Amino acid sequence: MTIKKQPFGTTPDGDTATLWTIENTSGLSLGICDWGATIVSVKQPDKTGRLDEIILGFDDASRYISTEGYLGATCGRFANRIASGKFSLGGKKYQLNCNDGLNHLHGGEKGYNARTWEAAPYSEGNRSGVVFTLISPDGEENYPGEFKVSADYALDEQGRLFMDFKGVSNKPTIINITNHAYWNLAGAGSGSILNHLLKVHASGYLPVDETAIPTGEIHSVEGTAFDFRKVKPISREFDHCMVIDGENGVLRVAVEVQDPVSGRKLTLYTDRPGVQLYTGNFLQGTPFPKNSGFCLEPQDFPDAPNHPEFPPVVLQPGETYHHRSMIEFSNR
Ligand code: GLA
Repeated sequence: MTIKKQPFGTTPDGDTATLWTIENTSGLSLGICDWGATIVSVKQPDKTGRLDEIILGFDDASRYISTEGYLGATCGRFANRIASGKFSLGGKKYQLNCNDGLNHLHGGEKGYNARTWEAAPYSEGNRSGVVFTLISPDGEENYPGEFKVSADYALDEQGRLFMDFKGVSNKPTIINITNHAYWNLAGAGSGSILNHLLKVHASGYLPVDETAIPTGEIHSVEGTAFDFRKVKPISREFDHCMVIDGENGVLRVAVEVQDPVSGRKLTLYTDRPGVQLYTGNFLQGTPFPKNSGFCLEPQDFPDAPNHPEFPPVVLQPGETYHHRSMIEFSNR
């Protein structure tokens, strides 16, 4: 494994950005920068050994504007949507910024995707990574409690990308951290991902209203377009939270995606209850038009603070938030 550090231009805030590139001996590499703790690059060999960029991203931090698509970013304090930006905690009402029409999305006006994180590279055994840390002040975007958060991204010799998000708060608060990478296994910029083959280990999904807020029900995928329990082409647009089978809190297989031409495949494992399957519907223009990448955002359920029937998302002082996800790359 090698780890390389290099300048990555200037952040939209005017600070100097840094990129770390980690590469294993099979040529698989991961590029991550301190602006937004963002995955800016993954290069993967295909079945013939040909390396291609499979992450939608840019070569300079200045291009990562805060609310434009959240390319590759670490999202928080509460990823995905909160209806009208409202929630109650301990008998108190909170009003977050509404940056997605009527709703709060991905942490608000200036989420964790638009902050410079502290970075500490490390190597242990056959795995190298970078631990990014951030202090999110009490009252930031109107969330209660100072939240100290870390995002650990690492690659190993077996072709696995580990994503570990941890945090502690000094007051009760709500947490949902995810990564928002867009993938195109045929190569970034090569066209639509709707022909990729998808398998989702989910017997349920969350139906949503016209502003993409979950209704609160969990629908069976049986007989619907959401049934990817057997592999089939993606074919149409999605922006929905899939309810992953198996036990919450336990790392388990969640989603498999393969490009039929190059043979490149990724398998996502997560310990979270859901994965937002998003087909880049809001992407537009060059270099990344609509549907030119797909996101698999492992997370707690959207708008969970307003749905007591969903798995809980409140973090108490003294507890540690810990989200573990992992992506395995192959090319058979
Ligand atoms: C998430 C949401 C989408 C969209 C993107 C950002 O994936 O579910 O609706 O807002 O983020 O463009």
